[in-house]
Amino acid sequence: MPALRVLSLFTVLLTTAVSVPYLSYHTSRIPVVGSKPEPSSNRISTDGSAAENSTASHTVTHRVSVGGRCGPDAGHCGEGLCCSPAGYCGSTTAHCYAPDCQLDYGSCDANKTPEGRPTDDIPRPWIGSVPYGQGIYSCRAPYTFAMTFDDGPNIYTSDLLDVLDNFTAKVTFFMTGINSGKGEIDDFTTPWGALIQRIHKSGHQIASHTWSHQDLSKISPSQRRDQLLKNEAAIRNIIGGIPTYMRPPYSNCNVECMADMADLGYHVTYFNIDTNDYNNDDPETIQKSKDIVDKALARGQETPGHPFLAIGHDIHAQTVYNLTAYILRRVNDAGYRAVTVGECLNDPRDNWYRWDYRSN
Ligand SMILES: *[C@@H]1O[C@H](CO)[C@@H](O)[C@H](O)[C@H]1NC(C)=O
Ligand SMILES: *[C@@H]1O[C@H](CO)[C@@H](O)[C@H](O)[C@H]1NC(C)=O
Ligand SMILES: *[C@@H]1O[C@H](CO)[C@@H](O)[C@H](O)[C@H]1NC(C)=O
Ligand SMILES: [Zn+2]
Repeated sequence: MPALRVLSLFTVLLTTAVSVPYLSYHTSRIPVVGSKPEPSSNRISTDGSAAENSTASHTVTHRVSVGGRCGPDAGHCGEGLCCSPAGYCGSTTAHCYAPDCQLDYGSCDANKTPEGRPTDDIPRPWIGSVPYGQGIYSCRAPYTFAMTFDDGPNIYTSDLLDVLDNFTAKVTFFMTGINSGKGEIDDFTTPWGALIQRIHKSGHQIASHTWSHQDLSKISPSQRRDQLLKNEAAIRNIIGGIPTYMRPPYSNCNVECMADMADLGYHVTYFNIDTNDYNNDDPETIQKSKDIVDKALARGQETPGHPFLAIGHDIHAQTVYNLTAYILRRVNDAGYRAVTVGECLNDPRDNWYRWDYRSN
């Protein structure tokens, strides 16, 4: 990709960031999109603490008002107010964004619900031969490479689709419904709905990465079900069906979580190559992620055709504008095909979704 194009992209992004006052912007990292794939990932940082502190902190017996303290030791925010990660009530994106807004103490983005009929009574038979409710770490079909992208869609995703088209590569998107202050994916006043329809029409696979990227092992059973069901409703509102593949945020799904995923009819999809892209989102360090993939492919040659299931994140600039094309070139050179998770598992496309045939 020409440097000029990249430069102009960054200019656009910088402009976007500047117009959003709660974002701090001190490195080449793009803070808009930090849904925290892992603890060290780039994050939205709230810099509203001075303003927050200017309102005297006080704990109200019933519901806390704007600027007041909230959280485990303080209380629950009043109607419509979010409890920020730092424990202040308010209604800005910095207060409300998932996953860090404190969902038990206010009306976080995470607590929103997509429109339309809930999906809980869609039948969920265990179709196909890929196991449900247990971790899947590897592919089956020889010479396949399943690249997967978590935490989107977000601002770089449409450019990523252009890169994929260039290679006629098919990939899998593990999508989050409302993380990072991006709004609901099925709110068609945002770009996400149309983008997801393009992803679907292009032959990529759509899978769930939960509604708001909470750690499924650290929330209540009903919150955990909600995390899947709400994302289903949002995806249904966009493509008409719900996915059968999911990846738990932070790759964390304990025994109770696994049982729930079995009950909800999900393939719990992990990976056997971690590109570690979220730690290398910089021109100076992205080579480390390329090296990881090269090493894995070299190891693969020991068992010819050994298939791969790799994880990356379409919320990082270097992943989209540098790493992905590199990987796809390597994959092609090694005689592999870049395919969806379903295809690498020999699971026919009909099994990737459950269509919502219920009448309203
Ligand atoms: C706001 O209050 C918090 C906790 O009371 C404190 O750590 C922080 O330094 C304060 N920020 C400002 C700008 O006063
Ligand atoms: C697609 O490939 C062409 C030809 O190699 C290149 O000029 C163009 O920049 C590529 N576009 C993307 C989005 O990768
Ligand atoms: C792409 O990655 C390489 C390291 O592998 C780096 O030298 C180069 O500057 C990166 N390109 C862009 C446009 O960031
Ligand atoms: Zn994630």
